[in-house]
Amino acid sequence: MGFIVAIAGATGAVGVEMIQVLERRQFPVDELRLLASPRSAGTTLTYNGQEIEVTVLDENSFDGCDLALFSAGSSISKKYLEACRKAGCLMVDNSSAFRMDADTPLVVPEVNPEAAKQHNGVIANPNCTTIIMLTALAPLHREVPIKRVVAATYQAASGAGHAAMVELEEGTRAYLDGKEFTPEVLPYPYAFNLFAHNSPMEENGYCEEEMKMVNETAKIMNDTTIGVHATCVRVPVLRTHAEALNVEFTDELSVERAYELLKNAPGIEVLEDRDANRWPMPLDAAGKDPVYVGRIRKDPSQKNTLDLWVLGDQLLKGAALNAVQCAEAALL
Ligand code: A2P
Repeated sequence: MGFIVAIAGATGAVGVEMIQVLERRQFPVDELRLLASPRSAGTTLTYNGQEIEVTVLDENSFDGCDLALFSAGSSISKKYLEACRKAGCLMVDNSSAFRMDADTPLVVPEVNPEAAKQHNGVIANPNCTTIIMLTALAPLHREVPIKRVVAATYQAASGAGHAAMVELEEGTRAYLDGKEFTPEVLPYPYAFNLFAHNSPMEENGYCEEEMKMVNETAKIMNDTTIGVHATCVRVPVLRTHAEALNVEFTDELSVERAYELLKNAPGIEVLEDRDANRWPMPLDAAGKDPVYVGRIRKDPSQKNTLDLWVLGDQLLKGAALNAVQCAEAALL
């Protein structure tokens, strides 16, 4: 027997990936409801070879539903949580609306799958950069606890939605054609450029994205002693987030052992050829499920410290795939 599943934000960059992830993982779906704004009503999307009409999200959309995957922004998730609860429908929410609520589990299934069962009607899908980082760090932390992580991120357009991906393509085309181009989604020209993450700046000088990495790491790892320092940057890449991680452990962890742990860890692909100076690149990860890791080195400047280069598809492991895995952990 399968489930009645809804996707709120089905036409968005993450929503369309959710449809494909459900299909690829053969999630038991009896009925799929595709929900979006009135702008998309009447359009169709394909699931398992079947055309499904997109309907307008409203208070009654979840009647009879077992599972709703949300990726339409925080305000929409907040607006419809009660409707989901009333319908007895589990919400897996890709927005930041409920992530830090004490009674909402924040889950990366490779890290804290048991938390998915403790939900109170909603499971929060963590911030994409944090999911990708922790998928790679958890197997190492289990062996030798981590003391501190210094992260520099190289983040794709997809994190800002489908419109930002289009803006990157159109801005690049305009640049090459020598034409004027005024960005409307992101704050600065994106082609052949990079800039600090566009999330709101907090009083401490860090942007919201950077503080999400700090706060969400403590919650997911259930450990407030891990120090996280992040600098988040948007780079002109379509859908893969990359991260340079300098990781200090509480004790020695050899490079060889780190490789071994990562090679055997779920959801991770070690990809590198030192002789050819070949490491994971955004194009390797685009459209793929695993988190890719390479360039594992011992930091000679600091005791018990390794460097890692980590990347993953922001729309998949950073969003749609992780959300479906959360639903699997809770319901299957
Ligand atoms: P629509 O395509 O009809 O605008 P992205 O993150 O790529 O920008 O996608 C956002 C998703 O959220 C889209 O599917 C979008 O639908 C949906 N969405 C945005 N605003 C609303 C709304 N007020 N009601 C329902 N869905 C919405």
